[in-house]
Amino acid sequence: MNTVYSIADVREYVRTARAAGQRIAFVPTMGNLHKGHLTLVHKAREHADLVIVSIYVNPLQFGASEDLESYPRTLAEDQAQLKDEKVDLLFAPSSNEIYPHGMEHHTNVSVDCLSNMHCGKSRPGHFTGVATIVCKLFNIVQPDVAVFGVKDFQQLAVIRQMVEDLYMPVEIIGADIARDSRGLALSSRNGYLSDAELDIAPSLYRVLCEAREQILQGVSYDLILRDALAKLAQAGLKPDYIDICSQHSLQPASAQDRELVILAAAHLGRARLIDNVTLTLD
Ligand code: PAJ
Repeated sequence: MNTVYSIADVREYVRTARAAGQRIAFVPTMGNLHKGHLTLVHKAREHADLVIVSIYVNPLQFGASEDLESYPRTLAEDQAQLKDEKVDLLFAPSSNEIYPHGMEHHTNVSVDCLSNMHCGKSRPGHFTGVATIVCKLFNIVQPDVAVFGVKDFQQLAVIRQMVEDLYMPVEIIGADIARDSRGLALSSRNGYLSDAELDIAPSLYRVLCEAREQILQGVSYDLILRDALAKLAQAGLKPDYIDICSQHSLQPASAQDRELVILAAAHLGRARLIDNVTLTLD
């Protein structure tokens, strides 16, 4: 597996691949790879001849008081994992390559209709940072398909909307959430958790599953959400939000909505955990 650091080198690689008629799948990441990222790579492989992965910790999607500085950067270990997975190309650019005019002078992509709710409420500007970097990466790699995790449900919705609204010729594929044996969704930020916190963290998924059960039993959404917030606090988590939404609009679910997602975020020690469960009513 080759690692390249410049846009010119990616373009050169892609030009040659296209000339040979190869289909390209792309998996953007911020590195510190775990099994969740690798399920995306597997999925990408199912849909294309070549798999390109990017690793770039994008400053634009971090708030001023967030963990940009301390975000784990483990390029050598990541390269070894991707090599084992037979990834074809790794693009690991510097910020100079991606934002040559600095962080203030560039074009932003804002998917306003989906960016200010849920995670966007407590992370203003985050999804504009995500949409902007993903747009840039798509323009650099020009993939046929790109794979994103359902773990970041709102992020996936923002990307799908951007691709639809801007007529980007890339197919977006969602990959299921990879969890540990206790149900905790894998995340690079789980590394911030102490052993004691790792015992608490799976409660987020447990509470989401219980909420899903309650929906199926016909309990009112208000009651379910109140109950869930109390359970999260009782478990030792500091809930940021928990919402029952339409999978399509991400707006609070109405009685008519059939395809639902329960989205939640909670603080635990230094980490902010997010998770979700989906369900379809008949
Ligand atoms: P990162 O957090 O590194 O995640 C990269 C991809 O892996 C995302 O699509 C995310 O949803 C997926 N992922 C993370 N944990 C997962 C899990 N447990 N199961 C399944 N998929 C999982 O998300 C980002 O980076 C960035 O915002 C990025 C899209 C790269 C833009 O900077």
